[in-house]
Amino acid sequence: MRLQDKKILITGGASGIGLASVERCLEEGASVVMSDLATSKGEALAKELDAKHSGRCLFIPADVSSTTEVDALLNKMQQELGRVDGVFNNAGIGGLAPSTEVTDEDFDKILQINLTGVFRVARAALKIMEKQDSGSIVNCASILGVFGQSQTAAYTAAKGGVVNMTRTLALEYASKGIRVNAIGPGYIDTPLLEALDDELKQFLIGMHPLGRLGRSEEVANAFLFLVSDEASFVTGAHLMVDGGFTAGKS
Ligand SMILES: NC(=O)c1ccc[n+]([C@@H]2O[C@H](COP(=O)([O-])OP(=O)(O)OC[C@H]3O[C@@H](n4cnc5c(N)ncnc54)[C@H](O)[C@@H]3O)[C@@H](O)[C@H]2O)c1
Repeated sequence: MRLQDKKILITGGASGIGLASVERCLEEGASVVMSDLATSKGEALAKELDAKHSGRCLFIPADVSSTTEVDALLNKMQQELGRVDGVFNNAGIGGLAPSTEVTDEDFDKILQINLTGVFRVARAALKIMEKQDSGSIVNCASILGVFGQSQTAAYTAAKGGVVNMTRTLALEYASKGIRVNAIGPGYIDTPLLEALDDELKQFLIGMHPLGRLGRSEEVANAFLFLVSDEASFVTGAHLMVDGGFTAGKS
């Protein structure tokens, strides 16, 4: 078991990449806190997984755009499980619109969840990990954290911010035994892509040299590696899980 006895938090855990990561961590022996804004869905999924994995899955609701809720989430996790060994800062939303039509509110909402939300969760986790002298945080960035794409100004700004903030947190907390990394998924077949029409999906498939969209489990496996002790000398990295999308770009 690669995560035996580890206590791991996954935000946005009730869907897509987050849910696949919850499942992989449970399979590898971890106790997992699944957190999400979607409370009833999360509770139902966690109850099922808890029964399947001998009481190792707990749902704690939280909106990552609220500091109060995020601090309460980490406090509750520490109370219930005693420690926080790993975090997947995965909660996020999409946003596709011509930039001239994006209001301040639209822009702020994406940044609040996809960038400040990542910082909030990391900050609350780091306060606990500092006292433990250990921990591993993995932030979900994107291929759009390193390349631009039309009509995604707020999303690309947020994901670019996540990539560079990851490096800063990695430097700042390395001496405390805490590693901080990011994952850069290509287009992954999750509910986040539901809004895209078939023509756009086909176009996006064509941009991945492996000739398909990614699967949530493929990102979950990268998270599993980064959060585990197998990645003990990896910090400040942005691991691309993108079917070759970025390989031909510079
Ligand atoms: N799917 C892709 O193609 C793709 C590509 C690159 C990066 N990503 C990133 O992967 C992460 C997961 O995306 P996904 O594709 O699994 O999406 P998804 O929509 O399937 O899951 C996202 C989850 O986040 C939750 N969430 C949304 N806002 C929240 C908030 N304010 N507080 C707490 N939870 C909230 C949702 O309820 C949902 O359960 C996101 O950060 C996304 O930006 C996805």
